[in-house]
Amino acid sequence: MKLLHIDASILGDNSVSRQLTAALVDAARQQHPGLSVTYRDVAAEPIAHLSGEILGAAFMPESDWNDTQRAERALTDTLINEFLAADVVVIAAPMYNFSIPSQLKSWIDRIAAAGRTFKYTENGPVGLAGGKKVLIASSRGGVYSSEQGKSMDFQEDYLRTVMGFVGITDLQIVRAEAVNMGDDKRATAIHAAREAIAALAI
Ligand SMILES: Cc1cc2nc3c(=O)[nH]c(=O)nc-3n(C[C@H](O)[C@H](O)[C@H](O)COP(=O)(O)O)c2cc1C
Repeated sequence: MKLLHIDASILGDNSVSRQLTAALVDAARQQHPGLSVTYRDVAAEPIAHLSGEILGAAFMPESDWNDTQRAERALTDTLINEFLAADVVVIAAPMYNFSIPSQLKSWIDRIAAAGRTFKYTENGPVGLAGGKKVLIASSRGGVYSSEQGKSMDFQEDYLRTVMGFVGITDLQIVRAEAVNMGDDKRATAIHAAREAIAALAI
C-alpha cells in the first residue's frame, strides 16, 4: 500500500496541519504495516507556479523544449505519477486568506492534468484518478463550519471540488478550526481532530 503525504504550512513547528498530517500518517502506518510513504513538503521545496513556458511545453515538440521546460516537465510527471500511484493521499490544508496556501495550489496546478488525471468528453470532464482515498487535514484560525462562516470557506470546498474533478469519491476532512481564538479553543480543536484521526479507518 502506498501513501503520499503532502505538507504545505509555512508555520514550521507551530503548524497545526503538520501535526495532523503526521498523526494521519502514523495512523495509516499502524493500520497498514509495510506502508510505503512518499513525502512532499511544498512549503520547504516550493513547486514553481505553472507558467505559460511550462504549460507550453505540452504543445511543442520535445526537441524544442528549453532547459526549464525539460526540468519542469520532468517534475510535473513525477508529481502526477506520485499522485496516481498512491492508494492514500494525505494533504495538509492550512487556511491562508480564506483559501489554501499558494504552494499547495502550485501542486494542484501540476497534478490536475488533462489526459492524466482527468479528460474532457462530449458529456463534460471525467476524472481519471479515482480509486484512492484522500484525507485532508484542515486547520484554520477562525470558524467556518457555521452557517455564516461557510460562505467564506474557499479552502475545504475548493479541495473537495478539485479532488472530485479528478475522480476522487473517497475524501475525508479532519478539521481543527478556531485555532487562533485563544489557547483553550486551539487545544480543544487539536484534541478533537486527533480523536477523529484515532477513530478513522484508513
Ligand atoms: C498567511 C496567513 C493567512 C491566514 N489567513 C487566515 C484566514 O483567512 N482565516 C482564518 O481563519 N485563519 C487564517 N490564518 C490562520 C491559519 O488558518 C491558522 O494559523 C492555521 O493553523 C494554519 O495552518 P498551519 O498552522 O498548518 O499553518 C492565516 C494564517 C496565515 C499565516
